[in-house]
Amino acid sequence: MPRLTIAIDGPAGSGKSSLAKRVAQILGYLYLDSGAMYRALALKALREKVALDNSLALEDLARGTHIELKPPTPEQEAAGSKNRVFLDTEEVTQAIRTAEVAQAASRLATTAGVREVLVAEQQRAGAGGGVVMEGRDIGTVVFPRAELKIFLEASPEVRAGRRWKEHQEKGEVMTPAQVLDEVRERDRRDRERKVSPLVRASDAVLVDNTAMDVEETARLVVMLAREREKELSTAAGREL
Ligand code: DC
Repeated sequence: MPRLTIAIDGPAGSGKSSLAKRVAQILGYLYLDSGAMYRALALKALREKVALDNSLALEDLARGTHIELKPPTPEQEAAGSKNRVFLDTEEVTQAIRTAEVAQAASRLATTAGVREVLVAEQQRAGAGGGVVMEGRDIGTVVFPRAELKIFLEASPEVRAGRRWKEHQEKGEVMTPAQVLDEVRERDRRDRERKVSPLVRASDAVLVDNTAMDVEETARLVVMLAREREKELSTAAGREL
């Protein structure tokens, strides 16, 4: 069977990570979290006090930074970690999961030069197929020829509720109203930015998981992937 490139895009808290991870696990594909790259660079910008509206400095920072994603260790996997993330060789897997870094990542992601550098890195990481990559622009910019594209949605209240639970589990004190505000603010920035805004690719399948759990959504996406695999191998057979 051909090994597909699967693009999963959607807003904050839509459940992209849990879905992408589960789909990759079922299909035996590589899972890649593109948002982690924006977060890692944001962490570096915060530490080095690079202004988040200074495009030239941010682009320079991106060009001089090495970010790598690796699969989690079994212990990290059990604890719900996504990819292991390395920033210039330092592991920052946990350090990038704060509300402050998320907001900074969303701001820095509006810079065209930063996106150029990180998109090239994502294309390299996912070259060769057999990959599920999640983000905001995977089906539109990073892999516009992905064989399967999913645009994942859920109501803002449900998405904020999921994020609130994550913050609670990490001991971060935020009220549900604060988290909803944060989600709305990021939504607005991610959807309204000039470069590569969060939009549904015209050939993406829209999946609203407001009332679906991860397992149900993963089963649906795996079914779509199997159909695509079959279509592609039939088409390849016809060409022989
Ligand atoms: O998926 P996430 O919440 O970890 O992403 C953090 C921020 O990074 C998000 O608010 C917008 C940005 N991002 C992006 O612009 N493009 C991507 N492909 C992934 C993330």
